[in-house]
Amino acid sequence: MSKWYGDEQVLDDVSFEMDRGDVTVLIGPSGSGKSTMLRCVNRLAEAQEGEIFLDGEEVTAPDVDVDELRREVGMVFQDFNLFAHLTALDNVALGPRRVLDLSEAEADERAHAQLERVGLADQTDSYPAELSGGQKQRVGIARALAMEPKLMLFDEPTSALDPELIGEVLEVMHDLVADGMTMLVVTHEMSFARAVADEIVFLDEGRVVERGPPEQLFDNPEKERTARFLDRIASHD
Ligand SMILES: Nc1ncnc2c1ncn2[C@@H]1O[C@H](COP(=O)(O)OP(=O)(O)OP(=O)(O)O)[C@@H](O)[C@H]1O
Ligand SMILES: [Mg+2]
Repeated sequence: MSKWYGDEQVLDDVSFEMDRGDVTVLIGPSGSGKSTMLRCVNRLAEAQEGEIFLDGEEVTAPDVDVDELRREVGMVFQDFNLFAHLTALDNVALGPRRVLDLSEAEADERAHAQLERVGLADQTDSYPAELSGGQKQRVGIARALAMEPKLMLFDEPTSALDPELIGEVLEVMHDLVADGMTMLVVTHEMSFARAVADEIVFLDEGRVVERGPPEQLFDNPEKERTARFLDRIASHD
C-alpha cells in the first residue's frame, strides 16, 4: 500500500503478510511511517493505493463497516488514551456495553476477566489518575482485549513509561503471545522483539527496507541501511 499526506509520500508500496498467531514487529526511525501503517489497518488513516486484508476481508474496501472492523482490531496507544473520568473497570467495560451491546452485568464480567488477565484484579475501581503508567497501559491492553479482537495493534506501548514500569507491560504482552494472539507491534524494545517476533519489518522513509526473522535481521542484516539503524539503536541502550 501507499499513502500520501498532501504532497508527502509517507508509505511507499509497503507490503507484508502475517499468519494467524504471528507477531510482527515494525521498527524504523522516527517519521518512517510506522504509526501511519498501523493506523491504516484499523482505518484511522486511509491508504490511497493498495489493499489490506484481514482474515479474507478487505479492510480498505470503501464500503467496509469501520465500527465492525475496529471491533476486530484492537489498538494500544503510547499515551494510553483512557477516559480520566471512568474507573479502570468502566474504561474496559465501555466498548462491550456500547459497541457489543452486552448487558451491564455481562460487560462488567468481561471487563473483570480482562483486568484479571493483565494483573489488575485489585484495581478495578481505580481512576487513571490513581494508577501508575504501567498500570494504565495494562488497562489499555485489557480494554482492547475485552472486544475479543482478531488482531492487536500496539504503537510504542512502553515508550511513555518509566524504565522500571516497562517490564510489567512487556510481561502482559508476552502472555498474549503465549495465548496465540496475532499482534502487529511498533516498539524499540529490541530484546522483546527478538524474543517474540516471527518477523521484523524495518521501515525507512515509508519503504520496507528489509524484513525477516529476528535472528536474521538483527544478527545478519542484508542491507547496510538496516545495520546502520540497528547500530544507532544499540548505542542508545
Ligand atoms: N495526520 C498527519 N498529517 C500530515 N502528516 C502526517 C500525519 N501523520 C503523520 N504524518 C507524517 O507522516 C510521516 C510518517 O509519520 P508516522 O507518525 O507514521 O511515523 P513514525 O514512524 O510512527 O514515527 P515515530 O517513531 O516518531 O512515531 C511523517 O513525515 C509525519 O510527519
Ligand atoms: Mg509513531
